[in-house]
Amino acid sequence: MEFKTKDQSPEKLKSLLTAIPVREQGLKDPAIRALDRQLRGRLSERMERSRFSGAAGSTLLFATDGKLPASQLLIIGMGKEHEIESHTWRKAGARTAKEATSQCIQEVDFFLPPFGDPGKVIGPVAEGALLSSYQFQKYRSDDRRPQPLQTFNLVRPGFRRTGETDRSLRLAKDLVPGVFLARDLINEPPSVSTATYLADQALEHCRSQRVKVEVWAKKKIETMNLAGLLAVNRGSLEEPRFVTIHYQPQGKPRKKVIIIGKGITFDSGGLSLKPSKAMETMKLDMSGAAAIIGTMSVISKLQPKVEVIGFIPTTDNLPSGSAQKPGDVIRYLNNKTVEVLNTDAEGRLILADALALAVKEKPDYIVNLATLTGACMVALGTEVAGIFGNDQSLVDQLIHCGRETGEKLWQLPLVKEYREDIKSSVADIKNIGGAHGGAIIAALFLQEFVAGKPWAHLDIAGPAFAEKETPLATRGGTGFGVLTLLKFLESL
Ligand code: BES
Ligand code: MN
Ligand code: ZN
Repeated sequence: MEFKTKDQSPEKLKSLLTAIPVREQGLKDPAIRALDRQLRGRLSERMERSRFSGAAGSTLLFATDGKLPASQLLIIGMGKEHEIESHTWRKAGARTAKEATSQCIQEVDFFLPPFGDPGKVIGPVAEGALLSSYQFQKYRSDDRRPQPLQTFNLVRPGFRRTGETDRSLRLAKDLVPGVFLARDLINEPPSVSTATYLADQALEHCRSQRVKVEVWAKKKIETMNLAGLLAVNRGSLEEPRFVTIHYQPQGKPRKKVIIIGKGITFDSGGLSLKPSKAMETMKLDMSGAAAIIGTMSVISKLQPKVEVIGFIPTTDNLPSGSAQKPGDVIRYLNNKTVEVLNTDAEGRLILADALALAVKEKPDYIVNLATLTGACMVALGTEVAGIFGNDQSLVDQLIHCGRETGEKLWQLPLVKEYREDIKSSVADIKNIGGAHGGAIIAALFLQEFVAGKPWAHLDIAGPAFAEKETPLATRGGTGFGVLTLLKFLESL
């Protein structure tokens, strides 16, 4: 998809589809009035008849019947002006691209109305158009891919390209492939997308002049005593991997950040076996890892001025004669001991290794992403990830970045009192608590391994995977986290 800018007023546009964003109560805006005049009032008549008010999420497709050079107008309701966010623009871009694609239209015009600052709007619109074009067709014998949209024109009378508009268009084109890579990795069937596969994909997609990838196989993992990863891997026929992806910026880095992704390539629960229904989507359990690989695959295009180290502990979680058993005790490299009472609480076991290693690197920040608990999904649903942390300004910064990228984060508390729930009778701590507050318990468990370093934990169990199609993604992996991580790294 190519983005072009045009200096033109909307009533002169002549493509098959022209998208016009309108504010709620903005139906008398000059652009709409000008179009309506040419259409001899038929547009306002139609809007009245169908009670179109410009509410957020509403659209109206209008055929111009030769009364305008453009054949169709797609009027996009943007909602109340003070409620319009960058994500509203992202969805508008997506809706436009989707409508065009569904009609096999190859070129569209998108009118940039005066109520949006082009410098801030263009990036999200382009991102939305690109994100909505994702398809995972690899395993279909009939290729159902629609004709891709070729040209997306951003139009405004008196439009001048600036450094800012060019940069935001370039970044949209450069960074969205990172999201697509994450989606591909998640959507790949679990018997293909193994620990070894993820490591190979990291090597293939992340390695570059400024990015080094190091893969530890089982022997090295044993030498380094990554006890949690080894314990979870015991039930598997697949070898575990521990992947390090290291980005070094040009010049002296402003900060050193470690980002960690949970890489359970399939979560059966282990001996604490999940019921079959709960297992159907458990290939998604490496979505945290996918977000790290996706991020690091495009980081050189963004060139943030911080040193970034990605850590990915990865294995599947399966039952077998050699699997770890409820009651087993793990001793970590920082000498903490954990009693494993439920082998389905495996994510925290492998993240603990990565967090303990991260601490040794003396980073300024540690951020981990994990599809960690069903409880977080119960609390926040599938649109919102939970965020926990011991450093409020880090948490605030991530939430802010998430608002910009449309990846919603909601802070949940690290309730000190619940620390009691993970006390074990034989080891330092156990890997589950009681019946309630499961997302918080998991976060408290992770906190045990960060040694007080500034840290944030994103529980992405809900938004990592879309059960049905959304404006920006097809059913399957969403790539949640990639854009927010990139925004965060850029902001430091
Ligand atoms: N991978 C799951 C969490 C999950 C559930 C992610 C649903 C996405 C959708 C995790 O490993 C898990 O099984 N957690 C358990 C923890 C429990 C045993 C304490 C859970 O949430 O039930
Ligand atoms: Mn599990
Ligand atoms: Zn899991």
